[in-house]
Amino acid sequence: MKIFHILFLFAFFSITISHASLNDFSVADLKAPNTPSGYPCKPLSSITSDDFSFHGFVAGNTNNSFKLGVTTATVTNFPALNELGISLLRMDLDQGGLAPMHTHPDATELLSVVEGEITAGFLTPTSFYSKLLKPGDIIVFPQGMLHFAVNSGKGKATAFGAFSSENPTTQILDILLFGNKLPSDLIAQTTLLDLAQVKKLKAQFGGSG
Ligand SMILES: *[C@@H]1O[C@H](CO)[C@@H](O)[C@H](O)[C@H]1NC(C)=O
Repeated sequence: MKIFHILFLFAFFSITISHASLNDFSVADLKAPNTPSGYPCKPLSSITSDDFSFHGFVAGNTNNSFKLGVTTATVTNFPALNELGISLLRMDLDQGGLAPMHTHPDATELLSVVEGEITAGFLTPTSFYSKLLKPGDIIVFPQGMLHFAVNSGKGKATAFGAFSSENPTTQILDILLFGNKLPSDLIAQTTLLDLAQVKKLKAQFGGSG
């Protein structure tokens, strides 16, 4: 009986170990097309330590209308994240800066403030959840919820956001509504906004019509 036991355990672990060495990671081959289950893997023989580190995770350019700098490490610039279901963002806000209303339809986000003060929250069809965050504070934006962040402090603010996807998509409400060529009167009709306001925002977000 004991021998059986030991043989069984040995068989079990050898299966687990061989499985692990093949499937613990898959560094993306970005030259191949993406698939619903991620990018194809680079051959194990060509993977080195360099594949598992990322450099230049520094403040992004904040010289834009949102005074928002964004730096991301996702599978498209950090191929080792392929199939791992995780990625990272750095958000830098100048004084008065903000992240406009947006959603990540395919990822939950954890936002951790490391400098300054940020008011952040998300909307639901019936309510909102919002909080003033200081260094050491974290907020979670559940997958798909419309959310925002505003620098509500005196200086600059910095936060890091972790996503439950290696390749999260982002839909920014203003850009969806006003960065298009749909005629402004249709946007005004379907949003109940004033036509003049729609035209102003279209000019700001690169839309026309
Ligand atoms: C910020 O951007 C504007 C317009 O793109 C440009 O004219 C200006 O020189 C930039 N300022 C800095 C400090 O880079």
